[in-house]
Amino acid sequence: MAQPTITALSLASFILSLLLITSSSSHHHDEHLFQVLDVSASLQQARQVFSPNLAQGSASLRQLQPLNSSNYSADSLSLTLHPRSSLPFDRHSNNYTHLTLSRLARDDARVRWLHSHHPHWRSRHSHHPHWRSRHSHGRSRHSRAPSAYKAVRQPDQFESPLISGIELGSGEYFARIGVGRPVKEFYMVIDTGSDVSWLQCQPCYDCYQQADPIFDASASSTYKPLSCKTEQCASLDISACSRMGNCIYQVSYGDGSYTVGNFATETISFGASGSVPNVAIGCGHDNEGLFSGSAGLLGLGGGKLSLPSQMRASSFSYCLVNRDSSSSSTLDFNTARPADSVLATLLRNPLIKTFRYVDLTGISVGGRALPIPSSLLAIGSDGKGGVIVDSGTSVTRLQTEVYSLVRDAFKNMTQNLPPASRLSLFDTCYNLSGRSRVQVPTVSFQFSGGRTLSLPPTNYLIPVDDEGKFCFAFAGTSGPMSIMGNVQQQGTRVSFDLANNYIGFSPNKC
Ligand SMILES: *[C@@H]1O[C@H](CO)[C@@H](O)[C@H](O)[C@H]1NC(C)=O
Ligand SMILES: *[C@@H]1O[C@H](CO)[C@@H](O)[C@H](O)[C@H]1NC(C)=O
Ligand SMILES: *[C@@H]1O[C@H](CO)[C@@H](O)[C@H](O)[C@H]1NC(C)=O
Ligand SMILES: *[C@@H]1O[C@H](CO)[C@@H](O)[C@H](O)[C@H]1NC(C)=O
Ligand SMILES: *[C@@H]1O[C@H](CO)[C@@H](O)[C@H](O)[C@H]1NC(C)=O
Repeated sequence: MAQPTITALSLASFILSLLLITSSSSHHHDEHLFQVLDVSASLQQARQVFSPNLAQGSASLRQLQPLNSSNYSADSLSLTLHPRSSLPFDRHSNNYTHLTLSRLARDDARVRWLHSHHPHWRSRHSHHPHWRSRHSHGRSRHSRAPSAYKAVRQPDQFESPLISGIELGSGEYFARIGVGRPVKEFYMVIDTGSDVSWLQCQPCYDCYQQADPIFDASASSTYKPLSCKTEQCASLDISACSRMGNCIYQVSYGDGSYTVGNFATETISFGASGSVPNVAIGCGHDNEGLFSGSAGLLGLGGGKLSLPSQMRASSFSYCLVNRDSSSSSTLDFNTARPADSVLATLLRNPLIKTFRYVDLTGISVGGRALPIPSSLLAIGSDGKGGVIVDSGTSVTRLQTEVYSLVRDAFKNMTQNLPPASRLSLFDTCYNLSGRSRVQVPTVSFQFSGGRTLSLPPTNYLIPVDDEGKFCFAFAGTSGPMSIMGNVQQQGTRVSFDLANNYIGFSPNKC
């Protein structure tokens, strides 16, 4: 192992910060002010993302575990969870810069999509004039959704809209889930930012490529179409009714991307841990402009139709392994949170039930709490603002003013590190080439009640190429809310205690 190389300058700035903190009586965090980033280990991890035997590692297609029975129980249920880079369908070039840029492009699309679902954004930019939705038009839940109508009634006349080709709605973490009887297993994106679960279904009017065979509802004995008159159908944001009186769902991802098909109930299986019958999911016959790879999406939001809501789960938790890792972790339901969790309040925004808000009250850098006006982190009385915890966004987005404070403080305390040019949305980068370890100020989140979550350095200073360029993995946004992304959640078990309205963060619990 390489020896730590702490420069005299970083030591000096460390001592200076110590003096600054100890001289200020208002600070009594017992967190470490500086931490060591293991540059070599981060780079090694980044390089091994291209190693050819990765895809055959622990994340390769698992043998289906035999299921015990179709007995539903509210007991602990568990799914394996994989990062995108470990899956057989993630075909990326052998160029880490290129991989970073494609991740950031996906991330940008993700954030635009999340923001577009906020009522404040929606009212200002209506991108979906051609169909009616519950939110944008406020009436007629079962009015015609033209593409849905065409897909079901006139498949021959269906015309694809022009699409951007951007990988909208794509995800970074995938659960292996069983659908139907006999059970078929699929990789599905997990998404805390949406509610409706769906997967591609035969017959396909338009399906993108996926790793698993496309689900064939006619071969499943537990598949039951939902009628338009059901509560589940009425809970959809966008729906239509077929001539047969069956419910048709549509989920749109902006930029012309959407999935549309029959809304139905199915039995969902969680590996060998159990199964839940009659879960309403979308059987997508027409899936436009979406990324390739996974079979569909698992909605973990706070709305009525999300999987946790339908299961009446008292909690769920996930641990997101490093995005370059080949290992897997789990998505658990109804499991006690780890005892060492840092607890934060899980908040609701009455304007949008889907998003999972956390009561972030402050951010500190190098042990210094930044002077962030609380109004910039809280949910306003108009429903704007606030901070959501999102599994699908990579880089944490903070309101521009907040980001500037964080970034400036971080820069100020890293003047000993050689700067490097910006990359995409990262404006604070360093050339750590030739170094094995560097000292960086600790970044921590404060929650109400004075609780502090200190992030490990790998969760905010990340490699963007394989030669030693690292960037500060936060960014600014002028969108309607801030977003805590998955880079900052890596390696942490994030538990959503839905019964008691807590979010728990437990480091090193993958
Ligand atoms: C199935 O469930 C029964 C009763 O709960 C249990 O006795 C049995 O061991 C289980 N079988 C398997 C394969 O898990
Ligand atoms: C299902 O499982 C639960 C708990 O494991 C048990 O209490 C219940 O009796 C089972 N129901 C049936 C129909 O087997
Ligand atoms: C890697 O990709 C980046 C961005 O696309 C490009 O600028 C660079 O030249 C590539 N490096 C190599 C070694 O191909
Ligand atoms: C860095 O921090 C010190 C101490 O808080 C402050 O005096 C100085 O102005 C800051 N420098 C910059 C460039 O922000
Ligand atoms: C980064 O630093 C290394 C060693 O100090 C140097 O050789 C290299 O040219 C630098 N890279 C850039 C892009 O400045």
